[in-house]
Amino acid sequence: MAARSTLITRIGELVTNDGDPAGFAALTDAALVIEDGTVAWTGPAGRAPAADSVVDAAGRAVLPGFVDSHAHLVFAGERSAEFAARMAGRPYQAGGILTTVAATRAASDATLRANLARLAAEMLGQGTTTFECKSGYGLTVPDEARALALAAEVTPEVTYLGAHVVPPEFAGDVPGYVDLVRGPMLDACAPHARWIDVFCEDGAFGADEAAAVLAAGRARGLGPRIHANQLGPGPGIRVAAQAGAPAADHCTYVSREDLDTIVSAPLVATLLPGAEFGTRHPYPDARRLLDAGATVALATDCNPGSSFTSSMAFCIALAVRDMRMTTQEAVWAATAGGAKALRRTDVGHLGVGARADLILLDAPSHAYLAYRPGVPLVAAVWQSGHPAAGPPSAGPASAGPAS
Ligand code: NIG
Ligand code: FE
Repeated sequence: MAARSTLITRIGELVTNDGDPAGFAALTDAALVIEDGTVAWTGPAGRAPAADSVVDAAGRAVLPGFVDSHAHLVFAGERSAEFAARMAGRPYQAGGILTTVAATRAASDATLRANLARLAAEMLGQGTTTFECKSGYGLTVPDEARALALAAEVTPEVTYLGAHVVPPEFAGDVPGYVDLVRGPMLDACAPHARWIDVFCEDGAFGADEAAAVLAAGRARGLGPRIHANQLGPGPGIRVAAQAGAPAADHCTYVSREDLDTIVSAPLVATLLPGAEFGTRHPYPDARRLLDAGATVALATDCNPGSSFTSSMAFCIALAVRDMRMTTQEAVWAATAGGAKALRRTDVGHLGVGARADLILLDAPSHAYLAYRPGVPLVAAVWQSGHPAAGPPSAGPASAGPAS
């Protein structure tokens, strides 16, 4: 059967991110053709080829789907009281994670699956077409393996985070827990995961422990990821570089040496401003990173403790308003930057051959994502060329996908 093609035309601004050198790139008065789930053509609307079906974007913007490279979605319960206490002046503590560990261990598979499905749908409706998902709220062999098996049902970007914090049954025996994480727990988890992560921070795991966990994961074919320099200065960025990680995540407290490491390794600096919003820590200095030549990604860190948002648009708005990123830099970081952090070349851009994961905004340009913060602007989403759900509040898009 011949492939069906879809032409999206009269696009006010088409963000392609396929310029040379790599960076934000966009066309105005543009069109795009989808064929076989991939982008087959982009160019001026006036020169668009014919296709089997046509969508009229009516001057609105089309962007690559967001790539959220850092999220913790397998959990039960919530911690709104902890958030409220922080907003009243209490500090964020890594130990709050254990509240979610207890709730997650007690939850049925069905509850965890339903929670995960709801968050995945929430993300998709807001334009996130690729997301990473970590374990880290089980912290026993069966609970971590279960979290990863569930995550693998909704995304290929699955990350084993047994080294999130030391669980209560190992209090006082950090080496014993590290041995479990890089031994029997890794054996049970590796088949379900692509990545391995560690929370390298005071109150979680130190440099040597983090390096040992990542090395064990690498030996089992898992790519290294790391929570680095989130709550204070520390060795995480250096450990990321030594482990050959594609990215260092958080990068809130970055020394001059860390900055050099990020640029020279190179590491994608994955910034998670939802966490600073939710913990009242200072935002990472994105401008300093960019001006030094670093590649920056934006992700939500969606989790019930430090950052309970699934909205990449919210992160873009924070990055533009409070981290001095330009609107172009922030949109690139939330799309192509996330793809780089996940070592993916098929998503995060709309060059010919890319996966046809795209967002139609109810706005004429990408800038509206920061210019109209908090407003649900995603009118339609395509995933691998197929129309996917829009946000419940968007209603039928007048230029929605043709049937
Ligand atoms: O990325 N830093 C460690 N993990 C999460 C927080 C998880 C939680 O508070 O439940 C983070 O911020
Ligand atoms: Fe995180």
